[in-house]
Amino acid sequence: MHFQWYPGHMTKAKRQMQEDMKLIDLVIELVDARIPFSSRNPDIDELGRQKARLILMNKADLAAEEQTRKWTEFFQSQGYFVVKLDARARGGMKKISDVIMEACQEKIERDRKRGIKNRPVRAMVVGIPNVGKSTFINTYAGKACAKTGNKPGVTKGKQWIKLNKNVELLDTPGILWPKFEDQQVGLYLALVGSIKDEILNVDELSLELIQILKENYPGILTERYELPNEGAPAEILKQIAENRKCVKKGNELDYSKAAALLMDEFRSGRLGKITLEFPKEQE
Ligand code: G4P
Repeated sequence: MHFQWYPGHMTKAKRQMQEDMKLIDLVIELVDARIPFSSRNPDIDELGRQKARLILMNKADLAAEEQTRKWTEFFQSQGYFVVKLDARARGGMKKISDVIMEACQEKIERDRKRGIKNRPVRAMVVGIPNVGKSTFINTYAGKACAKTGNKPGVTKGKQWIKLNKNVELLDTPGILWPKFEDQQVGLYLALVGSIKDEILNVDELSLELIQILKENYPGILTERYELPNEGAPAEILKQIAENRKCVKKGNELDYSKAAALLMDEFRSGRLGKITLEFPKEQE
């Protein structure tokens, strides 16, 4: 998906979200588990003030488990409920339903004191483009769930998906804009393939990736591409080209092909479970 944000888009998205916030009890925010900092927009904290908050660490199948655990603790220490997830898999959904109920305990208690029984929790999914919002809604809601349609008192056109007797989900996710004014954030989003209009070309991206891997996952490139040593990023890219026989006409090494191959193997998880951002850097 290609997304270009202009101030007009942001104002519209923000206004829409402010309206939707009035209808819900819980914000379900998806982040990319490989870049939990760069895939968030802290504006949601302002927009979702006074709402119960659940962060889903999505694409956890591609992230380093140890780091996902640390990020989970980090967000929990800030008062969020957190669940790690592969939104394409059905398995994690029971756990999420349980945590939603836990996160909304206060509301349920408040309702009970007012004599309101069994009013479902209403939730909305938010996140930056490509983080997995549609995949999550499809998997979580499934096909069996009936849409509840418009109800009196609900803004015209709003569709609610009844997940079970306790939870209803707004069927359109709220789209948050990335913090693209931050160069580092732009780089990380490009690395995981979340923005197609790359701020750097693939050759440069691959060199950035190699540098990050060298620092944080020593040996991972050596092992996969049988490198003789881990030298400078450009040297490593050359060795990957040699190992994978990336050559152009005239038997010249094709660095761009090697760069594309490396990016593809990283993004698809074939290089291993790799997290690019670490919670200690954010404290
Ligand atoms: P969005 O609504 O937030 O914009 O994101 P969307 O669901 O469209 O997901 C973006 C891409 O991320 C999709 O891949 C989707 O399959 C993939 N994805 C979503 N959740 C997960 C996850 O937990 N793990 C992994 N590994 N991938 C996930 P795509 O290549 O754009 O489309 P497709 O090839 O799946 O059709």
